[in-house]
Amino acid sequence: MNQLLRALPGWSVWLLGLMPLAWLVWLVFFGGLGVDPVKEIEHRLGKIGLWFLVGGLAISPLRRLGVNALRHRRAIGLLAFLYVALHFLAWLILDMGMLWGQAGRDLLRRPYLFLGILGLALMLPLALTSNDASIRRLGRAWRRLHWLTYPAVLLGVAHYLWQMRIVSTEGWLWLAAVLGLILLRFRPR
Ligand code: HEM
Repeated sequence: MNQLLRALPGWSVWLLGLMPLAWLVWLVFFGGLGVDPVKEIEHRLGKIGLWFLVGGLAISPLRRLGVNALRHRRAIGLLAFLYVALHFLAWLILDMGMLWGQAGRDLLRRPYLFLGILGLALMLPLALTSNDASIRRLGRAWRRLHWLTYPAVLLGVAHYLWQMRIVSTEGWLWLAAVLGLILLRFRPR
């Protein structure tokens, strides 16, 4: 497994990670998004973003189990940011039509959107410093900054559960997965 992960070139993780986006673009042009395509786009992008966020969170605990995907953590984190940012843009552009008044009213009507925005805002400095120059320049501060991953994922999951109103089994499983991964991460060696 580790040999395979090590042999996997960085670009192939990007290629695989961008496939759900390519599939979504395909569905936009050739149909298959149902009666409310905007909602469907919004939901799909949010869910894919969550997959990558949780995938990124799983890398450290997996390493303790002997599976080393550390090399691909940056790509997975950036893919998470990309999908969550597109999810936000789908809401702002496709759903709200870039009408700021309407967006403001929607935020007040659905407070869980604030949790999502806060989660995305926490991911922004992580994405901006995910390059070798920033890692070198920030040194220890870079590691501290990357602790923001945990509140960002928790906010994302809270936003997801809250928008459901009645939380489904799937929702509880996502919460359990995130809490479990965070606990594993901080479990003493
Ligand atoms: C860490 C950040 C975020 C994560 C992980 C996230 C994830 C999700 C997920 C998984 C869903 C449900 C998808 C489904 O049911 O299949 C969702 C729904 C939604 N999210 Fe986010 N999201 C985030 C940030 C945002 C932001 C910044 C906005 C825009 C203000 C936003 C707006 C929405 C909307 C409008 C819905 C649909 C709600 C509905 O249908 O009633 N999200 N999000």
